[in-house]
Amino acid sequence: MLATLGPPMARPKLRTPRLRVLVTAGPTREHVDPVRFLSNESSGRMGFALAEAAARAGHAVTLVAGPVDLQSPRGVRRIDVASAREMLAACRKAFRSADVLIMAAAVADWRPARVLPGKWRAKDGGARRATLSLVRNPDILATLAARKGRRIVCGFALETGVGEARARGKLARKGLDCIVLNDASALNAARTRCVLFERDGGRKVLAGSKHSVARAIVARLCARASRP
Ligand code: CTP
Repeated sequence: MLATLGPPMARPKLRTPRLRVLVTAGPTREHVDPVRFLSNESSGRMGFALAEAAARAGHAVTLVAGPVDLQSPRGVRRIDVASAREMLAACRKAFRSADVLIMAAAVADWRPARVLPGKWRAKDGGARRATLSLVRNPDILATLAARKGRRIVCGFALETGVGEARARGKLARKGLDCIVLNDASALNAARTRCVLFERDGGRKVLAGSKHSVARAIVARLCARASRP
């Protein structure tokens, strides 16, 4: 589904040139059958705050959103998807004409090997145990980063415990420009504390409302993307 909500915004004066910013948000849903699915905990708030911050800064924003209960920020082109493969397809298209990708979505790493056409009836017949066979989903971020050219690509890492080394590992392994390390306490919260790591060794702690942190992330990435 494609929807552009709200009237076009009065365009503010830009400190950086007008960029095309692609943001992903929310979880993906991987169906087992028509009424059950696997998913990740994610409200989508951070991604929506990033899309809003980029639009308010005057950039052209496409927001690819998993199933969330949030209103589209004004002036943002929103594409709703459900599964990781749908998100990949929507992102591939939008990425072609993007300058910046911010991948804030909580993509499910696995999906059921097959989606049943009717309800899964494993407990019929009294079974006490059942096995669900899973296959790996594509890594959207790594797939797009592999052909990023001059685009700026930023990932998110949500870690429990000390996650700096893991976040830096993902930054290098997925070929990113930046990664934002979040703590699990940010889940469903209005505030967050995160660390932005950059490819060239930069490290910046950002804390506050998701909206203020989003503004800081967008400003940093768009400044990078505007470098000659
Ligand atoms: N990501 C993606 N496609 C996937 C999985 C993750 O694009 N199939 C992106 C997320 O949007 C996020 C980053 O990759 O920007 C997080 O990386 P990763 O650690 O691989 O995801 P998690 O599953 O959150 O972490 P872990 O491997 O620790 O479970």
